[in-house]
Amino acid sequence: MSFQVPLFLDLEPKTNSFFDDAIHGLTQTSKSLPSKYFYDLKGSVLFDQICELPEYYPTRTELGILQEHMSDITQTLGESVILVEYGSGSSFKTQLLLKSIPDVEAYVPIDISREHLLSASEQTRMNYPNLTVLPVCADYSQQISLNLSPTPGTRVGVFFPGSTIGNFSTDHAISFLKRIHHLVGLNGGLLVGVDLLKDSSVLEAAYNDSQGVTAAFNLNVLNHANEKIGAGFDLSGFKHVAFFNSEESRIEMHLEVLRDQQIQIRDTTIHFQKGETILTEYSHKYSLEHFSETAAAAGFKVEQVWTDDQNYFSVQYLRAV
Ligand code: AVI
Repeated sequence: MSFQVPLFLDLEPKTNSFFDDAIHGLTQTSKSLPSKYFYDLKGSVLFDQICELPEYYPTRTELGILQEHMSDITQTLGESVILVEYGSGSSFKTQLLLKSIPDVEAYVPIDISREHLLSASEQTRMNYPNLTVLPVCADYSQQISLNLSPTPGTRVGVFFPGSTIGNFSTDHAISFLKRIHHLVGLNGGLLVGVDLLKDSSVLEAAYNDSQGVTAAFNLNVLNHANEKIGAGFDLSGFKHVAFFNSEESRIEMHLEVLRDQQIQIRDTTIHFQKGETILTEYSHKYSLEHFSETAAAAGFKVEQVWTDDQNYFSVQYLRAV
């Protein structure tokens, strides 16, 4: 097949809105900061450490599911697939897929970080010299048009592992899934990692690890704001808090304010009262029924679900109908 996308497509995502987002989030009655700002260099290293923690089950459980059911998964994806990966980074999980699918028509990694994307794509080209790699620099939370125009018999499949979908509110998850539906077209699919509801003690331990890595990861968003937008946060005035909100079926991460204080971001002064919190992340945990309803609201049918022995995590294949 021929591709209308160039060998590198740069959709020039807007990356400098941290200042606007921080002022917006911190001047509301309930303060918040978007979780995407966790991931500066230090935050990304801390996140990699989280993935290795004994209490943080999602990464190793998802990997175990992928390894155990790989042949079934690749059969479900189909013989000729254009594999699109959202937030590709340098994912080890994708390497597993690429190794196992015999006939990938093309691999389209999409990431907001241009340098990371280009170096990871180079690496993938070296590992798989016969594979067509078409990197796209874009913000996948926005609508992306790729003009992939698959030929008959070829399908577009998006891979979105890690349960990052849980970091969206249900409404945002639906609009995000609708955008994927638009991208893959009828009969296209989505292979997605979805963290499942379970005992709250297991969930709360995963976000309050004994080594304090998650606490450092959470607090680091304030460091990032200090460095990137000249905020004046003193980290000793804040504490990591994570708990399971059973009514909303989500882990909530907050930074609790330990003393009355005010901070300056350029010419804006923000007042904090002891005891109030800055919401930094939601991590929704789905039942299989709730996820299937969410998928259906975006035009997807859950075709296959693979889980682990404890039903902690799921990898699901959704078909666009
Ligand atoms: C990226 N995302 C799926 C992680 C999660 O579990 O929601 C981020 C994370 N936050 C704290 N620990 C891990």
